[in-house]
Amino acid sequence: KPRVFSGVQPTGNLHLGNYLGAIRNWVKLQHDHECIYCVVDLHAITVWQDPADLTRAIREVAASLIAAGIDPTTSILFNQSKVSAHAETAWIFNCVARMGWLNRMTQFKEKAGKDRENASVGLFAYPNLMAADILAYKATHVPVGEDQKQHLELARDIAQKFNHDFGVEHFPAPDPLILGEATRVMSLRDGTKKMSKSDPSDQSRINLTDSPDDIEQKIRRAKTDPLPLPETVEEVAARPEAANLMTIYAALADESLADVVAAFAGKQFSDFKRALTERAVSVLSPITGEMRRLVADPGYVDGVLRQGGERAAAIAAPILAETKRIVGFL
Ligand code: TYM
Repeated sequence: KPRVFSGVQPTGNLHLGNYLGAIRNWVKLQHDHECIYCVVDLHAITVWQDPADLTRAIREVAASLIAAGIDPTTSILFNQSKVSAHAETAWIFNCVARMGWLNRMTQFKEKAGKDRENASVGLFAYPNLMAADILAYKATHVPVGEDQKQHLELARDIAQKFNHDFGVEHFPAPDPLILGEATRVMSLRDGTKKMSKSDPSDQSRINLTDSPDDIEQKIRRAKTDPLPLPETVEEVAARPEAANLMTIYAALADESLADVVAAFAGKQFSDFKRALTERAVSVLSPITGEMRRLVADPGYVDGVLRQGGERAAAIAAPILAETKRIVGFL
């Protein structure tokens, strides 16, 4: 079975973008892949996290993943800091990757903003740790949303440069899996901005913890243009807010965008939003309910992460030993 690795940051709640862009695909891949899924707490602290909030977020994100359908008895589910191979491999990659490569990372530029002098060194080196996550297991398939594409290209470059520098075929070049209709879900307030955990407006996203009333209200208030719904896929492309809501609908309903356009062509947004709310609630409410049940018993989630960590460490250990031997460590 091909080996899959992917990760999600425990910085607040998961949202619809995380779910449609990544987690739903993680669930589907479990059947015919060996899957390793990671709550990346080392990545989270590249920007300040209150310690108590971080602990809670790690449990809640893990619970959401289980609630969404990650089966911890087949897939491996753990938090990154439990397996030291991530940090050890990342250090070696810090010495493989070039400053120029990381200087080109658009996500660093966005996250660091204008005050770059004050960004943590960890935030700059973030993509090296991400490459280490994947390559510490020699994973070949990485299901992610569109926004992680550039980081994945960097991981490929690091694998290739390591192999080239040391004259080995040690690390495979990992392939991104960017699957489904909703690979880039946009903000509900602005169809040109990505839906994101860090958007100050909670109205901009649907969280996996939102109640049906929250979902209804957020979709009702979601930004639209004044026209009726588009009649062709080409017209959708020119109208970002309509495109976003229709893409979300398509992903939730497991239909193509073309089918959704055909079904709602020329209708009013109020009708469409009611249908979208119904879809969103029927997909998300069971996950929210199960997540709340799971976090009420932290012993269970903590046990899953502990066992997952042990299984992950067992896979990573011989690969790390070989990496160290290649580098020349005694
Ligand atoms: P993170 O925590 O920002 O997001 C987790 C996953 O959700 C996807 N995603 C989206 N997809 C569609 N539309 C959106 N608006 C949206 N927002 C987020 C992301 O693409 C991602 O797949 N650097 C990663 C975590 C990471 C990782 C890894 C991923 C660390 N190590 C190794 C893969 C392999 C991140 O910050 O994801």
